[in-house]
Amino acid sequence: MKVVYITGCLGFIGSYVTKKCLELGWWVKGVDKITYAANKDLLIEFAKYPNFSFVQCDINDLKFLYDCDFVINLAAETHVGNSISSSDEFIKSNINGVHNLLELIKNHRGENVCKPTLIQISTDETYGDISVGAHVETDLLKPSNPYSSTKAAADMLVMAWGRTHNVPYIIVRPTNNYGIGQYVEKLIPKAIKCLNLERKIPLHNNGLPIRNWLHAEDTANAIITIIEKGIVGEIYNIAGGFEQKNIDTVIKIIKCYNSEIKYDFNTLNYIDFSCNRRGQDVRYALDDSKLRSLGWKPTKLFDEEITKIVDYYKNKFIW
Ligand SMILES: NC(=O)c1ccc[n+]([C@@H]2O[C@H](COP(=O)([O-])OP(=O)(O)OC[C@H]3O[C@@H](n4cnc5c(N)ncnc54)[C@H](O)[C@@H]3O)[C@@H](O)[C@H]2O)c1
Repeated sequence: MKVVYITGCLGFIGSYVTKKCLELGWWVKGVDKITYAANKDLLIEFAKYPNFSFVQCDINDLKFLYDCDFVINLAAETHVGNSISSSDEFIKSNINGVHNLLELIKNHRGENVCKPTLIQISTDETYGDISVGAHVETDLLKPSNPYSSTKAAADMLVMAWGRTHNVPYIIVRPTNNYGIGQYVEKLIPKAIKCLNLERKIPLHNNGLPIRNWLHAEDTANAIITIIEKGIVGEIYNIAGGFEQKNIDTVIKIIKCYNSEIKYDFNTLNYIDFSCNRRGQDVRYALDDSKLRSLGWKPTKLFDEEITKIVDYYKNKFIW
């Protein structure tokens, strides 16, 4: 039986991790500021579990932690486009917020003699892009955009508080997540929303950037594996093992949405290629053999899951 704080529990990945911990019978103390990216309806589902409690709070404003085993930090501003237009909230939540969590753990004096371990959810984007091969956990961090630089800064704080103040931590770096429940600003739900609205799908940089796709349920399972078998003070990459160009992702979505479309070139009429993102990373790729040696591997297949995701958003568009 474990007691865990989950910050950002109403966000996309946070909701999968929360469900998984509740199903395991762990005591979950959910924390979420409830930004535009949160799904408040999840509170109704989580409230069915007697082992769930919730507080609406910014991680910067948390004043103390009850005794617990782990703080799983998934609270963050996460949309790269927003970080390019305005970075203030990214600095506050992704850097200052992590600093507050580290101070709370550092100063924790509870009945439990051990301080809780911070499971800091970082991202593949901290390494920057890589044209061939895959990043390992010891590689230099070379973030390319304001979002990923705030995540890299947080990783640095975590490692320093670990070394100087003995704050126990594990850093986790997943690749691009997908699945039902992702906010519409991200590529997959945004593409389906555009199709629903009969608008063209805006695709940055001609759709050439390559992303490695990881289902949020596989991420949640990986985080549980890391909590149960990972080593404190280590970093673990999580990769979905399935990479493709963004244009191929969007073509698959268009063909799932409209099964009468047979040929790829017919899908191009549904795409708007006029936009570019500054600082766009060409390819992210991670080597996750360290995590796999703990017994985890991804179970979801992108081409199977994407049809379910398209059906879901086509028939039940919630945002
Ligand atoms: N989605 C991905 O593809 C991906 C990939 C790698 C890493 N990550 C990391 O995983 C984590 C979760 O990502 P996500 O996609 O689920 O994010 P999300 O944007 O869907 O959800 C973030 C959640 O955090 C909450 N939140 C934001 N700022 C907060 C604050 N200051 N205090 C309390 N709550 C706050 C929001 O209300 C929201 O519920 C982030 O740290 C992100 O960097 C995400």
